[in-house]
Amino acid sequence: MNETAVRDNIIECQDLVKIYKTRDLEVLALQGLELTVARGELMAIIGNSGSGKSTFLNMIGGLDRPSAGRLIVDGKDLFKLDEKQLVDYKRYTVGFVWQNNARNLLPYLTAVQNVMMPMSFCKADMPREDGALQLSDNRRTRALQLLELVGMGHRKNSRLQMLSGGEQQRVAIALALANNPKLLLADEPTGSVDAATASYILDVFRELNRELGTTIVIVTHDRMLAKKVERVVAIRDGKTASEFIVKRDLSDVASLAEEGGETQDEFAVLDRAGRVQIPRELLDRLGVNGNKVRLEYSEGRVVISAPPAEEEKS
Ligand SMILES: Nc1ncnc2c1ncn2[C@@H]1O[C@H](COP(=O)(O)OP(=O)(O)O)[C@@H](O)[C@H]1O
Ligand SMILES: [Mg+2]
Repeated sequence: MNETAVRDNIIECQDLVKIYKTRDLEVLALQGLELTVARGELMAIIGNSGSGKSTFLNMIGGLDRPSAGRLIVDGKDLFKLDEKQLVDYKRYTVGFVWQNNARNLLPYLTAVQNVMMPMSFCKADMPREDGALQLSDNRRTRALQLLELVGMGHRKNSRLQMLSGGEQQRVAIALALANNPKLLLADEPTGSVDAATASYILDVFRELNRELGTTIVIVTHDRMLAKKVERVVAIRDGKTASEFIVKRDLSDVASLAEEGGETQDEFAVLDRAGRVQIPRELLDRLGVNGNKVRLEYSEGRVVISAPPAEEEKS
């Protein structure tokens, strides 16, 4: 890997392990997760409940410390940051959106006051130049720009308690971007809204990604929503299981409108030791019951098949 390649990845995660220790129990929440995210990417992480999605997002967001492995975000080694560096990291490098927006919004303040709130903890205003649109270094102007971007400009002076759940979530997204972070992390951001609102919120993420150049990682268990981004990574049991790349021209509105106009390629993830995880459904279809499979190379393909019955027994 050359220097440029390294710098162009905003997230580099290798063999990440997280063990939660409670008094009489150890939970292996992440068991060797591998993931690389390029700067400027908009991607989704899917997986069943309990698969480790939130744990992973919390590690990237600096909210919790990983147990082992390697995790570099925006050139910073998250294993090496001290407490003070971690505070700065959370303030300037990442923005967070949760399912439950009550976690970051104040109901008695207006939309624009809410968005300006994190700016007052900020040492300096930090405009970035990697997007098409440049945010202002004036705090109020920047807050208004962000509210426009999430489609809430017309409600800037409304108190939060007057807004619907979906509208509040859009304000929460603007707030997460208040200090112009390079990376926006969203944990089930559409978990509490109806399908139409969820779809609208996904469009907002797309717009922000395009206009500001912000890298966005969205965690969701909704496979339909995941179709709205170019790349989807599936986590199973704390490990990266497969990757889907949507083959679709995003500028082609016609192909977006018709559901059948896109194809999704699924790739199994190959880790550094050359291991792939074969989904249980496929093994069942092959009739593999033991712990052996036959591997053959044939005409540019690696063929995995069930071993003959007597070999399996030995
Ligand atoms: N603070 C914690 N203490 C102990 N176990 C935890 C904690 N947080 C999560 N877990 C466990 O780690 C696993 C992954 O959880 P989580 O990351 O929340 O999954 P997801 O977000 O995909 O639903 C689960 O088995 C969960 O019970
Ligand atoms: Mg979760």
